[in-house]
Amino acid sequence: MKRVKLWDKEFEISYPADEIKDSIERLANAINSDLANEEKPIFISILNGSFIFTADFIRLINFPCEVSFIKLASYQGTQTTGKVEQLIGLTENIEGRTVIILEDIVDTGITLGKLIDRLQQYKPKAIKVATLLFKPDAYKGSVAIDYIGKAIPNDFIVGYGLDYDGLGRNLPDIYTLVKH
Ligand code: IMP
Ligand code: MG
Repeated sequence: MKRVKLWDKEFEISYPADEIKDSIERLANAINSDLANEEKPIFISILNGSFIFTADFIRLINFPCEVSFIKLASYQGTQTTGKVEQLIGLTENIEGRTVIILEDIVDTGITLGKLIDRLQQYKPKAIKVATLLFKPDAYKGSVAIDYIGKAIPNDFIVGYGLDYDGLGRNLPDIYTLVKH
């Protein structure tokens, strides 16, 4: 088994690049047939983790579309309410448009829930979600995930854009944390 060490932890290969490619092709095929008749949909990719997935996925989309990148950043509010999440980077007007969120992974779904709340404020026609990876056993959200590349066990993974404390995003394959 191919292994990598990042910081203090060992990971072993669990999802090789060719399997990732197959999953992305299936996702793109489904979206190409479902959304071809929408008026210029906009894909919104969630940084940082989704950048590699987005680059591979978007080149398989065969209808006119836009792609944009955003970040959900926490900052300390001036009010006593404390932590507030803010959308950084959305410059396109999404009112009345079909939005497809592109996520590398949906784990608990907390990030996704917050994102959808923020995006709803701009009154899109619809918000769909496409994620490369999904951890069904960790998911606590209430929104339906429209497109799932692959459901995976509730283990920590790295590679293909996903990191462990900043490292591992550059790995072409996906690796799972080895439990000792
Ligand atoms: P959630 O809010 O729990 O769904 O997690 C959202 C974010 O946590 C993802 O977009 C990733 O950036 C990160 N994340 C969740 N699971 C993993 C993992 O197994 N490896 C690396 N990052 C992860
Ligand atoms: Mg992410």
